[in-house]
Amino acid sequence: MSERGNFGTKIGVILATAGSAVGLGNIWRFPYMTGQDGGAAFIIIYLVCVLILGIPGMVAEFVVGRHSGANAARAYYNIGGRKWSLLGYGGAITSMIIFGFYSVVAGWCLQYLFASTMGQLNGDVTYVQHYFKTFSSDPLKPLFWTVAFIIMTHLVVVKGVRKGIERASNILMPTLFILLFIIVVASCMLPGTKSGLEFLFKPDFSKVTRSVFLDALGQAFFSLSLGTACLCTYASYFNRQTNLVKSAVQIAGIDTLVAILAGLMIFPAAFSVGVRPDSGPSLIFITLPAVFQQAFAGMPVLGYIIGVFFYGLLVLAALTSTISMHEIGTALFYEELHLSRSKGAWIETIVCIIIGVFCSLSCGAVDITVFGKSFLNFCDFITSDILLPLGAFFTCVFVGWYVPKNIVKDQITNWGTISSRLYGIWLFVVRFICPICIGSVFLHQLGII
Ligand code: PFF
Repeated sequence: MSERGNFGTKIGVILATAGSAVGLGNIWRFPYMTGQDGGAAFIIIYLVCVLILGIPGMVAEFVVGRHSGANAARAYYNIGGRKWSLLGYGGAITSMIIFGFYSVVAGWCLQYLFASTMGQLNGDVTYVQHYFKTFSSDPLKPLFWTVAFIIMTHLVVVKGVRKGIERASNILMPTLFILLFIIVVASCMLPGTKSGLEFLFKPDFSKVTRSVFLDALGQAFFSLSLGTACLCTYASYFNRQTNLVKSAVQIAGIDTLVAILAGLMIFPAAFSVGVRPDSGPSLIFITLPAVFQQAFAGMPVLGYIIGVFFYGLLVLAALTSTISMHEIGTALFYEELHLSRSKGAWIETIVCIIIGVFCSLSCGAVDITVFGKSFLNFCDFITSDILLPLGAFFTCVFVGWYVPKNIVKDQITNWGTISSRLYGIWLFVVRFICPICIGSVFLHQLGII
């Protein structure tokens, strides 16, 4: 345990955990899910999920993590015994699958960073569409970037908590915000953006199909990094002064703001340049090059600089998220198998490279399908639509019903030093509302209710 660190400052806690939450889930996944699931109505359901289920669920994971101060499996084991430690192991497995496919998309971002630096993305939408398709189905290039990205994550993680994770997040998060604002303004100034804004803000509930609820729930959990024991692992590095409820609210607030900004960045531009909002995972990779070119047509150098910076930041935002996914397994392996931190990190890295390779190849180079989906889409689906909601469901049941109340109350009130006003409401939500709502969404999806 001597190698365990903790986060140095209050703002470091928020930024590192927000760094885990903010990533491709907000900037790549949120816009493409919103586009596929009909726009504003999806966003409203998503916001309800964040508020009612996400924030209380985050606090529940924080309680387990900070109480134990150990890796995810041990954290659940310490309170609930062997049976509940499965939740920690399950979270680690889920995060490995996510890490595998997420690195492929992060690898695409690395390729776009490279291509925009070399000026290879200059062309109309048809050209960029063709560019993306050719690149993503190439057998070698995306594979190379995927592995490169996983190794980058590995290198930060072996540096440890304070030096690596906290320092990186402190610089990256604020810069990302500033750049997002600039691109939103540029995108909204393109001609013909009204339909894009309507798509984002004018709900049409007739488009809400059965699967929209589970999609919104899965997206909320994915975006908040909830249900993988990631928050539990990070909370094990929190200090005694960290206010768990306030931190969850702040992190969810930052995360949601970035998602909405990403929507504002993509949809007005997509409608303006004629990209279909339901283009799926390629949405941002086709729309953004057009924004950088057309919005800055009069100032190509500025467009170039903003483009390069943006892809750079996207890579870094993805990195602060993959660091957190990697940390779940690393902490678990090195503490449970009594290895050095570096060896623990290598086990995680190698497993994720294997998953990442299959995901990358399934994008066109080799036919790897599971239940009719490409392996990458299958990994995305099984984690977001099944494993994350299940993880969050059982965490809420565990914290609401099994963890001794004195432990829970001590964690929420920082051992009686801060107000317990919200404790009762939160406990009620975690015991009843979260399990009932998550369970209902599942049953609804299965057509049972
Ligand atoms: N929340 C991250 C994002 O939105 O990009 C993704 C993520 C990170 C999911 C960590 C799960 C996790 F454990």
